Amino acid sequence: MTDTVQIVLARRPAGDVTADCFREETVDLGAPAEGQILIRSRYLSLDPYMRPRMTELRSYTPPFELDKPLTGGSVGEVVESRNPKFAKGDVVMGMLNWATHTLHDGRGLRRIDPSVAPLSAHLGVLGMPSFTAWYGMKHICKPNAGETVFVSAATGAVGQVAGQLAKLAGARTVGCAGGEEKCAWAVREAGYDACFDHKAERDAGAVLDTLCPQGIDADFENVGGRIFHAVFERMNNFGRIAFCGAISEYQDQTPMAGPTKMFTIVQRRLTIQGFIVSDHVALMGDFVNEVGALVKSGQLKARETVVDGLGKAPSAFMGLLRGENFGKLVVKVA
Ligand SMILES: NC(=O)c1ccc[n+]([C@@H]2O[C@H](COP(=O)([O-])OP(=O)(O)OC[C@H]3O[C@@H](n4cnc5c(N)ncnc54)[C@H](OP(=O)(O)O)[C@@H]3O)[C@@H](O)[C@H]2O)c1
Repeated sequence: MTDTVQIVLARRPAGDVTADCFREETVDLGAPAEGQILIRSRYLSLDPYMRPRMTELRSYTPPFELDKPLTGGSVGEVVESRNPKFAKGDVVMGMLNWATHTLHDGRGLRRIDPSVAPLSAHLGVLGMPSFTAWYGMKHICKPNAGETVFVSAATGAVGQVAGQLAKLAGARTVGCAGGEEKCAWAVREAGYDACFDHKAERDAGAVLDTLCPQGIDADFENVGGRIFHAVFERMNNFGRIAFCGAISEYQDQTPMAGPTKMFTIVQRRLTIQGFIVSDHVALMGDFVNEVGALVKSGQLKARETVVDGLGKAPSAFMGLLRGENFGKLVVKVA
């Protein structure tokens, strides 16, 4: 008998996610069957992509199921194993339930070395968001020394790494973030040349004209909406746009229209590429080597927000969609 506390999707949101979209329950998981392992969650990653998964709209991942636990990238410890590939005590990373314990068949799980870095780092600066930043910056934005690179959600899990990688490549980096504290950190710690507060500045175009007088050569797009429109209009010839996400649209029931002057793409010979990091797992080794070395040498800094207790996951997730997290948001489950 294994009692687990889990959080299930109780209702699909219409517009903003609300507390009644979640329900906490305690269930008996039973014992692992042949081939299964029982994992105790230690850290759960909360990520923007979970918001589209709460709906039934077509996307690159299937919707969460109603009355079933939500899932997320997690680090956990094997407490019981009937799978020859895993032993009791192994620390593993992969998709686990929003729960204290998960029964798993082991597929898609990766064993990690807990001595390399704090466990939460495997979900942030050494994990999926950082890999996303690395892929989009290195393979799509391809910044050259002296170019101007723009990053929206500049201090988020992805943006903070994207901006620093552009800076290390010798580019001038400009970002936007919500609030003075985040913008100050972006410049002081993450090396952005400038960062503006998108909540205070309503005319993003005017701010960009001041901060990017030579135009924008590459855009790492995390937010979409009005900020993206302003950036798009200021792209230079042969500019690259790595379209990583559009968080400003995830809760919007009447999404904003895209830029109107699409011929700009032709006139300026722009490359606009959407990408999903999971398509590029073959490059994970290169990412770990490059970014792991930068973290170890102190050249790459990363913020994280740790929320204590599984029960706080729903409110923390709602906060993420309002910009309350600073850097990578994780829940310490145990
Ligand atoms: N393509 C992929 O494979 C992939 C992988 C991972 C993430 N992503 C995408 O990358 C983006 C960033 O993800 P993340 O993990 O780094 O999240 P995050 O930055 O840690 O958290 C989201 C941040 O977005 C900002 N935000 C929220 N609503 C906003 C709005 N309406 N307008 C402007 N900013 C808003 C907030 O920061 P502020 O306080 O600065 O506003 C919030 O802290 C998301 O769009 C996500 O979906 C894509």
